[in-house]
Amino acid sequence: MQTDKPRHIAIIMDGNGRWATAQGKTRAFGHEQGARVAAEAFRLGQERGIEQLTLYAFSFANYRRPQAEVDHLMSLCGRFAEDHRDEFVERGIRLTVIGELEDLPSAARRAIENTIAATAKGTAMTLCLAIGYGARNDLVGAIRALTARAYAGLLLPEEVDETTIRSFMTAGSLRDPDLVIRTGGERRLSDFLLFESAYAELFFSDHMWPDFNAELLDQAISAYARRDRRYGQIGEQLAHSA
Ligand code: FPP
Repeated sequence: MQTDKPRHIAIIMDGNGRWATAQGKTRAFGHEQGARVAAEAFRLGQERGIEQLTLYAFSFANYRRPQAEVDHLMSLCGRFAEDHRDEFVERGIRLTVIGELEDLPSAARRAIENTIAATAKGTAMTLCLAIGYGARNDLVGAIRALTARAYAGLLLPEEVDETTIRSFMTAGSLRDPDLVIRTGGERRLSDFLLFESAYAELFFSDHMWPDFNAELLDQAISAYARRDRRYGQIGEQLAHSA
């Protein structure tokens, strides 16, 4: 099936550290710049009519980084939510989060929760931050919850399907991403939306995240439009169903 515009774009924002180190700056400086570019990304996404944008801000595995970097990234997430709260409301952007917020320092967590509440009525675009997120962890959490329901006699094995599983995942309310973009030169998904990206188109760029811009987003969207999405079927079947 000929693809049109992606409705949900998910981005692995990789390369802040290398970008900063290459200019003799600290990794923290790279992350600060990365957060500024993340703000530019949601504006660009909205201008292009993208319905959902998910940004991988902090992975479950990132907890293994030096504590100072973990603390800085978490406070950046809180600041990002707070600093853009009014802009989100003005733009009709609804903020959501996937992952585990439990380990977030309380100030950052409060800032994010306040912004989620303040933007809950936004209908123009959904901006989702993946924080303390790992796809495997999300699946484990869902299976644990499903098993508990089954154990309590509230769920039968034959009632478990894709929809039930999704309903227990923190990413369950998102559309499946149509396009996953990764900057920073690596060609892997790093535990990002593994279940949901089953049919996503992938776009890899060698640019570091702080260099991400409108031109690169447009390149990714154009590359997506040239792809042929068949979802396991053959071209003729999809031509008939279109
Ligand atoms: C991965 O590579 C990137 C991250 C762990 C964090 C991404 C965070 C941001 C872009 C800033 C915060 C964003 C928001 C929306 C609040 P790396 O940047 O550590 O770089 P490296 O692979 O070059 O070391």
